[in-house]
Amino acid sequence: MEARSDLLLARGTNGILNMKEAAENFRALLDFKAAFGNDKPVALEIGCGKGGFVCELAKRRPAYNYLALEKMSNVILTPLEDVFAQGLENIRFLNIRAECLPCYIPENSLDEIYLNFSTPLPKLGYATQRLTHRNFLEVYKKLLKTGGRILQKTDDRDFFEFSLEEYRACGFALADVSYDLHENGNPAWNIVTEYEQKWVERGLPIHRVVASKP
Ligand SMILES: C[S@@+](CC[C@H](N)C(=O)[O-])C[C@H]1O[C@@H](n2cnc3c(N)ncnc32)[C@H](O)[C@@H]1O
Repeated sequence: MEARSDLLLARGTNGILNMKEAAENFRALLDFKAAFGNDKPVALEIGCGKGGFVCELAKRRPAYNYLALEKMSNVILTPLEDVFAQGLENIRFLNIRAECLPCYIPENSLDEIYLNFSTPLPKLGYATQRLTHRNFLEVYKKLLKTGGRILQKTDDRDFFEFSLEEYRACGFALADVSYDLHENGNPAWNIVTEYEQKWVERGLPIHRVVASKP
């Protein structure tokens, strides 16, 4: 991290759970042009974990810039080191909770949001903490440009059905709904994440949806 501290754009306080309050009390909106040194469109991955997905995506699609968000500071060290070692110029990291997104991301600024195997959390009692709860979706809607997309993958059927309902309730248009992404083997365009690899090896079906802001 010392070698390329510019890769880490923000380190937030843990424990801020009220998004509206967080945004009102603390604002440090990022200037993407300054952060990346260019005007390329920006995609955000929420909960990047060890970062294999975002690194591969950044290599395959250099026309985009990528923000990788992860709340666990010990976990985010791995992708930071990988990005530095591989010399990837189009990734920056946010070591913050998703609840703090409105503090850092300007409205109408994102082209895509990736939710890969977000922690499913049982619906009973934890619904509002699910990253596809309508409270989060309303925030994502503000941060996405018109026509911007959320691309979600999960192995958890209950979480998937919940997410589809929440997208519809918030006015997102759904496309490419799949209950078994790997039915005929991994599609060439699909980048398999660390968690996805685990579930596929155990024979679990992977669910995927693309939800667009109208
Ligand atoms: C199940 S792991 C999936 C990791 C990776 N996306 C993958 O597919 O291999 C979920 C990740 O999301 C992170 N996470 C969970 N809730 C979060 C939140 N509210 N804000 C930021 N990151 C979060 C966790 O720390 C964890 O690294």
